[in-house]
Amino acid sequence: MDNQPVAPLSSHNFSAKPTTKVKPWVVANWKMNPGTQSDCQQLLNDIVSKPPAKHCNVMLAPNFLYLSTAKQILVQTNIQLAAQNLCSEHDSNGAFTGEISANQLVDFGVNFVIVGHSERRQYYGETNEVLRQKIQNAFAKNLSVIFCIGETHEQYLATQTHQVIEKQLSILTEFASQIPLPSHDKTPFNPKLLIAYEPVWAIGTGLTPSLDEIENVHNYISELLSTFEIYAPILYGGSVNEKNAKEIAKLLLVDGALVGGASLKADSFYQIINAFEQK
Ligand code: PGA
Repeated sequence: MDNQPVAPLSSHNFSAKPTTKVKPWVVANWKMNPGTQSDCQQLLNDIVSKPPAKHCNVMLAPNFLYLSTAKQILVQTNIQLAAQNLCSEHDSNGAFTGEISANQLVDFGVNFVIVGHSERRQYYGETNEVLRQKIQNAFAKNLSVIFCIGETHEQYLATQTHQVIEKQLSILTEFASQIPLPSHDKTPFNPKLLIAYEPVWAIGTGLTPSLDEIENVHNYISELLSTFEIYAPILYGGSVNEKNAKEIAKLLLVDGALVGGASLKADSFYQIINAFEQK
């Protein structure tokens, strides 16, 4: 990890931080889980049986097959839905076997999509160019993006975290004018972009960076975004669980969490939500 203080990136005056408190985001990334439709229904029912969150935004990202069940069960709640993927080649419809478009997701009632998750980069070879196209398609249809970034363990050990993140974030520069800034009145802020900093070596491993390291990287991301004239809430992801959520939630620059494994148990997920409710 680069422990050096964040270098001044440029002489910019951009300051678009919201004046009112950002409501944190707690997002469940269920990946290719649970294993069956009935387990998914059970998990959804367990989640909606918990008291609703008041001070944070809660979002679930089931796989495409389970979106419809989730939509039905979540209908009376304020829990939002996200998709885990979208088509990079086209934003509407056409001959793209196996794909789902931004337009189809919006038409269905999904407001957010995860882009750039390390599992997609790693197992499906998603390059920066593919991710750029996905973001372009999402924004073209007014679908908000949860953009995941983070370094591998090798890069972490080689203290390349800042460089890796800078490269991953650089594809956002061309979208700056499409990302609305928070207004300075009391209107609720509906971000078009959330960033999720997820060190690859922390995903599903039970390992997490130290709190100082998380702060350092979030600070770096926030500085970098401001040089692009972009403001986006920055979530932390990677082995967030019911035990470490409180400490992570207390960090000033952490605006929420992207949660994998621990979101598959309603009790753990609820405790993580509670940690961010108290932020
Ligand atoms: P994890 O996954 O919480 O199981 O580490 C996080 C993610 O991949 O988004």
